[in-house]
Amino acid sequence: MLEGPRKKNQDSDIESEFYTGRVKYTDSMADHYLKKSEGRRGPENAVLKRILEQYGIGETLLDAPCGVARVGALLNGSDFRYFGADYSRPMLERARERLKATTLRYDLLHCDLEQAPFGPRSFDTTLSLRFLHHLPTKTRSSVLHGLARVTDRLLVVTFFHPFSLHYVMRNCRSLLNMAKGGEPSGRYSHTARWLEEQVKPQGFRLSQVYPTGFLKETRYAVLERI
Ligand SMILES: C[S@@+](CC[C@H](N)C(=O)[O-])C[C@H]1O[C@@H](n2cnc3c(N)ncnc32)[C@H](O)[C@@H]1O
Repeated sequence: MLEGPRKKNQDSDIESEFYTGRVKYTDSMADHYLKKSEGRRGPENAVLKRILEQYGIGETLLDAPCGVARVGALLNGSDFRYFGADYSRPMLERARERLKATTLRYDLLHCDLEQAPFGPRSFDTTLSLRFLHHLPTKTRSSVLHGLARVTDRLLVVTFFHPFSLHYVMRNCRSLLNMAKGGEPSGRYSHTARWLEEQVKPQGFRLSQVYPTGFLKETRYAVLERI
């Protein structure tokens, strides 16, 4: 697996690995995300709805990170309490506007998920969608520990397998770029087993993996506390 550049995050007092996903969600990116990227999430949304119907949400759901509250909008009309957490204020502003138009009971929090500021087992269900692939391995592992810690029952995350066509191509491009003196790709992949190994010591097991499509191959891993 290719590793990204190792720099300190400039905007943090905490010694942490650098990743662009932490700082790139500016105003213009937030608009882009809301208006353009969401149109491509139809198959992923459909699979998520199926997973949540099958496993049940419980009374509280943490969406970490929530981005522009794609999931909140998708689950409008449901009865659970929705908690959205994100580091980007522009993303949170758009999430807030969007959630106002729903019937959900919700709270939004600006926070760094490298230190999820919630008590142990605070949420019945935690979702972490389209996030882990932004994180270098050490940070990814520690963020997962944090998310498992605050989850009582169900942890659902998306990831890319290293042998997915999308990542094989990405890694080839990254190697070519590095050969020319450039930076490695700032996106990361891993197996579902790797995910399970991270959270097993906290009492979770990998319950199921769901694919969502052929070429882009985002996958969901469902991790359940036993
Ligand atoms: C690709 S978006 C995914 C948003 C949402 N989960 C979805 O699927 O629509 C990634 C999000 O991660 C957030 N993010 C990146 N690093 C973060 C951190 N350390 N703590 C909290 N949020 C972070 C970004 O601000 C951005 O909103």
